[in-house]
Amino acid sequence: MKHIEAFLYRDGVLHADGVPVPQIIESVGTPTYIYSASAIRTAYRRLEAAFSPLGVRFQYAVKSSPNLHLCRLMHDLGAGMDVVSGGELDRAWLAGARTADMVFAGVGKTDEEIRSALDGRFHTLEGVPGLEEREPERRGPVGILNAESISELERIAYWGNELGVRPRVCLRVNPDVDPHTHEYTTTGKEENKFGIDAPLIPDIFDAWGRERGVDLVGLHVHIGSPVPTVEPYAEAVEALLNLIDELERRGSKIEVLDLGGGWPMNYVEEQVPPLEDYAERLVPLLGPRVQNGLQVLMEPGRFIMANSGILVTRVQHVKKGRAKTFVICDAGMHSLIRPALYRAFHFLWPVAWTGEAPRLLEDPGLPGLETCDVVGPICETGDFLARDRQLPPMGRGELVAIFSAGAYGMSMVSNYNDHGRPAEVLVDGDRAAMINERQPLATVLATEHEARELW
Ligand SMILES: Cc1ncc(COP(=O)(O)O)c(C=O)c1O
Repeated sequence: MKHIEAFLYRDGVLHADGVPVPQIIESVGTPTYIYSASAIRTAYRRLEAAFSPLGVRFQYAVKSSPNLHLCRLMHDLGAGMDVVSGGELDRAWLAGARTADMVFAGVGKTDEEIRSALDGRFHTLEGVPGLEEREPERRGPVGILNAESISELERIAYWGNELGVRPRVCLRVNPDVDPHTHEYTTTGKEENKFGIDAPLIPDIFDAWGRERGVDLVGLHVHIGSPVPTVEPYAEAVEALLNLIDELERRGSKIEVLDLGGGWPMNYVEEQVPPLEDYAERLVPLLGPRVQNGLQVLMEPGRFIMANSGILVTRVQHVKKGRAKTFVICDAGMHSLIRPALYRAFHFLWPVAWTGEAPRLLEDPGLPGLETCDVVGPICETGDFLARDRQLPPMGRGELVAIFSAGAYGMSMVSNYNDHGRPAEVLVDGDRAAMINERQPLATVLATEHEARELW
């Protein structure tokens, strides 16, 4: 690959950092996610550099790629954690994060999750040998709870009161801005379920102030993911800054502005502007506020992880149909759902390749390609990884790499058709480590093999 530096063809095979991909697959099988630690570090440093004038605190969006070892890597790089469930809270804690360095978001927090955000402990680890009895160090209330409705604010206040803690809360604002991304990942328009309509925010601050058991410390916004152009961010930031002005005129002090995630990367060469263009537009807007004491948070996931990971699958069969050729793999919508769910484009290419390095394009424009659908084994027509794609002829047993799969890949896998979850491997230079064993199907069957009489 010419444009993803961690994954390059050398000596006729794809390498992940310094390790030949076939060597990894020989020991762990397929389908397998492979991540590059160096790519993760590079992407994170780039974010830090781009927004350095704002002193941004980065909260890694655990949902994008939640493996414990990847969270640990992000923690070691200095990131806090953005969690959206009690499970993610426990996961981020296990990865080494202090709960005080977490923001807890999500539109449908249960009472149990709100309680866990305030005492820093969910029930995920109960009954897991070696984990449950660990010391409560680094536990305690999360740094910030992002509230998405008045109903949720009421439950947060209730649990704060019960537990004797004063929650620090940001209100998630729905600014009604169109991020021009897929309708399913658009989150900041008025018809979306996320956030509180911007015009309602001042009255909520007036009514809740700091007297009703919560500290309303700021505002949160996340308009979509990925956001492929700069202007919607600027529009959202300007709307939020105007809102902050109004709130401060009415006597509230806004300490925190959480800008969410959505920072894009290229699934196709030069598809989106470089991150630095986003920073160039946003830093002047936010700089003066930061100088006056505003703390800016960001919750990046995709930008760091997507091009830091690939999914490797093995061709099981090739079928020449009347209409087209089907390349049938052992990965499918159960292992990477983005093509089926969003019709998302993922570049894919054989792992063994001696020709000219392919470019990250919908049609790499090389000689001798044929039009194929690359599909999985699932009993759904929507189970595809690529449609009408120009690819070199492939045969049974061949390995295929699906690029840009490091974010919202493994986190969205399912056991549909009773397939186990893929394995995960992390490479760092010329070392490779198994960071998640392939899921044995026994774990899927364990919770259902015996009926338990209820009455
Ligand atoms: C509230 C919130 N923050 C952060 C993110 C991470 O977005 P991304 O991975 O695009 O950076 C998401 C993703 O959907 C989100 O909903």
